[in-house]
Amino acid sequence: MVWQLSSGGRTPRSTPRVRRLGRHESPRRTLPLPRLAAFAERVERTPALDGPVRALSDALVRALPSGTRLDDVLHGVPFGQPAHPALVRLPLGCWTSAVLLDFLPGAHLVPEGGIARWPGVQRFPGAQQASTALLAAGLTAALPSAATGLADWSALHRYQQRVGLVHAVAQGGATTLFGASLLARLIGRHKTGKALSLAGLAAASAGAYLGGHLALRLGAGASHAESIEHLSPLGWHDLCPVNDLPDGRPTRRQLGYLSLLALRQGSEVHVLSDHCAHLGGPLHQGRVVTARDAACISCPWHGSVFRLSDGAVMHGPATARQPSFECQVTDSGWVQVRPRTLGKRA
Ligand code: FES
Repeated sequence: MVWQLSSGGRTPRSTPRVRRLGRHESPRRTLPLPRLAAFAERVERTPALDGPVRALSDALVRALPSGTRLDDVLHGVPFGQPAHPALVRLPLGCWTSAVLLDFLPGAHLVPEGGIARWPGVQRFPGAQQASTALLAAGLTAALPSAATGLADWSALHRYQQRVGLVHAVAQGGATTLFGASLLARLIGRHKTGKALSLAGLAAASAGAYLGGHLALRLGAGASHAESIEHLSPLGWHDLCPVNDLPDGRPTRRQLGYLSLLALRQGSEVHVLSDHCAHLGGPLHQGRVVTARDAACISCPWHGSVFRLSDGAVMHGPATARQPSFECQVTDSGWVQVRPRTLGKRA
């Protein structure tokens, strides 16, 4: 059934009249998505990208085994959030500043006697050298930015990887253009250098848009674990009889609409949120492992490792702590849980 807003009459905006479409009437065009958003969505649904995605992803997984120190640092585990979004600001900031300096009065785009001669307008004699230095700084900063981005990209799901691949190609193109611009400036071809920088900024902006789509629309880098803090004031909750939990085998239990991973080890019970903070993988299907002498659960999807006692991240790609619960067993043999708070409980 298709409905369409009425376009005529004096109906107030707050109460639009609707009418049902006739049998042979086609719906009017709906509001078009902004072109870039439509493009990004088309990229998500382009299976032709899967070949290169698979080849690059396999190569990265082989070159950067999960659980190593380097892999954790590139994902941002020691910082508690992905490192890539913070690092991309450096090259983009440098390159944008370089292009702005190119267009300042006195930076050889204003003819002699032009605006730079107006009272109050200063010339910037060092702008040319400054923009060259900024280009070089941006190219240097692009290396760690690309390394962290590729590490994160290798542990995404297929739709995210398609968008991420085009994002990487755009940023790679931008880096090449800025590199060519630097070379042109170093051999004295400043006009060519400025044109190349402008093209590089356009490519970097398109790539940045796709990066935003990846993070904000497709949720790459955000925590996917269910929030449990709102349960804190409600105190202890009955979960299940302790004897229902198999010893040493992770199982899933429901607490209202929350899915929880429950693991009994002898008389000890550990409970974490079941949806992995990285991309929502089912932790109850993971393996119990030991990391830094602590019992942990390893996510079945990309191998993030969380400490069972408090949900701390031992290995990435996850960077956010897995929400965890304090547990107690009542005299009647029921496991009760309440959200673990990091600070002192009031
Ligand atoms: S979903 Fe990726 S590590 Fe768990």
